[in-house]
Amino acid sequence: MTRASLDKQPHEVAAMFDDVAAKYDLTNDVLSLGQSRLWRKAVARAVAARPGERVLDLAAGTGTSSLPFAAAGAYVVPCDFSLGMLREGKRRHPRLPLTAGDATRLPFADGVFDAVTISFGLRNIQDTQAALRELLRVTRPGGRIVICEFSHPTWRPLRTVYTEYLMRALPPVATAVSSSPDAYVYLAESIRAWPDQAGLAARLGKAGWAKVAWRDLTGGIVALHRGVKP
Ligand SMILES: C[S@@+](CC[C@H](N)C(=O)[O-])C[C@H]1O[C@@H](n2cnc3c(N)ncnc32)[C@H](O)[C@@H]1O
Repeated sequence: MTRASLDKQPHEVAAMFDDVAAKYDLTNDVLSLGQSRLWRKAVARAVAARPGERVLDLAAGTGTSSLPFAAAGAYVVPCDFSLGMLREGKRRHPRLPLTAGDATRLPFADGVFDAVTISFGLRNIQDTQAALRELLRVTRPGGRIVICEFSHPTWRPLRTVYTEYLMRALPPVATAVSSSPDAYVYLAESIRAWPDQAGLAARLGKAGWAKVAWRDLTGGIVALHRGVKP
């Protein structure tokens, strides 16, 4: 496990996702032991998109995370900077308006979205604060943010088992099912280095989001953070 794998430059992160794009969704389902479907449902409930609302799904990858918002009748814009992920998304979901864009310099005007959301992407963005400020900029006053991201189990025994899973079981499983096992070493390491629930809430507040709160899913393996643009 090299520390260097965490120091990826943005173009290296994009290239890493280009490489895993074809098998990304399958690998997700396997490695999350089916939990990812439950997490996506929880995100959809938290965003509570209404028909006609404009929703930005940032770091949308192949667009899988965007589908519940389209199903709710919202106009969802999936945005990502990996052309490989976007290409795979376009092949699978030709009707989604997949958009190329960097989270730290979003290609959208101020205040155009009713809700912004990001699933399993914020951790991959090199400058988290810049992304949180950009998300605030493109949201209308009174609009909301929902972040779904890996976090830290709050119950010590689960934390121990989960850390073992990340460091010992995940790499061999990833080698078996993924074309790019290195990407999953990065996954495990970046999850461990990511701030805990209170730490991410503080970052949201620092970026200007109000009414920040969170809810744990699967014992805190994942957390849903929410906030409102003042
Ligand atoms: C783990 S995938 C998540 C995809 C999708 N949201 C999901 O839930 O399946 C993370 C995505 O973040 C994207 N990403 C990382 N840094 C980014 C940035 N600076 N701007 C835009 N997208 C970025 C990657 O290209 C990748 O597709």
